[in-house]
Amino acid sequence: MTATPTSTFHGPVAEHYARFRRGYPPVVVDELAAALDLDAGSRVLDVGCGTGQLTLPLAARTRAALGVDVEPDMLRLAHRAAADAGAGNVTWVLGADRDLGALAAFTGEDVFDAATIGQALHWMDVPDLFRRLALLVRPGGGVAVVTNGEPQWLLDVAWSRALRGHLERWLGRPLTARCGTDADSRRGYRDALVAAGFARVEERAVAYRDELTFAQLVGSVYSAMSPDSLPTGEARETFEHRLREALGPATTFTEDVRVSLLVGRS
Ligand SMILES: C[S@@+](CC[C@H](N)C(=O)[O-])C[C@H]1O[C@@H](n2cnc3c(N)ncnc32)[C@H](O)[C@@H]1O
Repeated sequence: MTATPTSTFHGPVAEHYARFRRGYPPVVVDELAAALDLDAGSRVLDVGCGTGQLTLPLAARTRAALGVDVEPDMLRLAHRAAADAGAGNVTWVLGADRDLGALAAFTGEDVFDAATIGQALHWMDVPDLFRRLALLVRPGGGVAVVTNGEPQWLLDVAWSRALRGHLERWLGRPLTARCGTDADSRRGYRDALVAAGFARVEERAVAYRDELTFAQLVGSVYSAMSPDSLPTGEARETFEHRLREALGPATTFTEDVRVSLLVGRS
């Protein structure tokens, strides 16, 4: 498969992603497995798998999972996470969404029971991807578009507003992108699922509360910045010192996370 890496998820950004980016708690994976009718015999494809946040918990409750990602550094760390977890039923493939047509040439059609895209669809050619998944996923199977909460600097709480202000001052530009979590994007994804033949569409959501330390919050922010804007050396100390000041004396930051699952079945 050919792949052109994005400009974002490599080097230290990938390391921060593996270490600090939140995964999906069991309650989310339960809901996803129920929506997709997954069981111990299922085979799942996870596109834009990153360092395995969704791939690994899915692999733990299915026969096999295939994680595809365009960034070699993310896949290297996914591979390591699988080894650490003792997951022997995952295959990692370097490739982009548009390469999935070539994958079908090797595996054949209808070989997956479900495909998932976790927090990655906004990087992809959505109608094309769903058409390719319609060949790979067996009739009756499903595709799930998963978003893992809103960007942490766009929440309606004081610490998030302070974080956003700090990041906008640092980057010198407004931060407005909602990374596929907004209603317009979701509507577009729904329409594209239907057009590709995944016409039985339902939306589910799982809400839970998370408590982040300052180190977790900073690490998570670094996992979302481009390597060019990631502060290094002394600049990192200044960045963190100013963020600490902007956030005030709190030592933990409460986040109400709403994971949304848009699921289409054929
Ligand atoms: C925000 S991360 C999501 C990782 C993981 N799925 C999760 O839920 O945390 C987005 C991932 O999509 C990958 N990606 C971006 N564009 C892609 C493309 N066109 N094809 C495949 N993967 C892509 C990136 O390399 C990155 O690992």
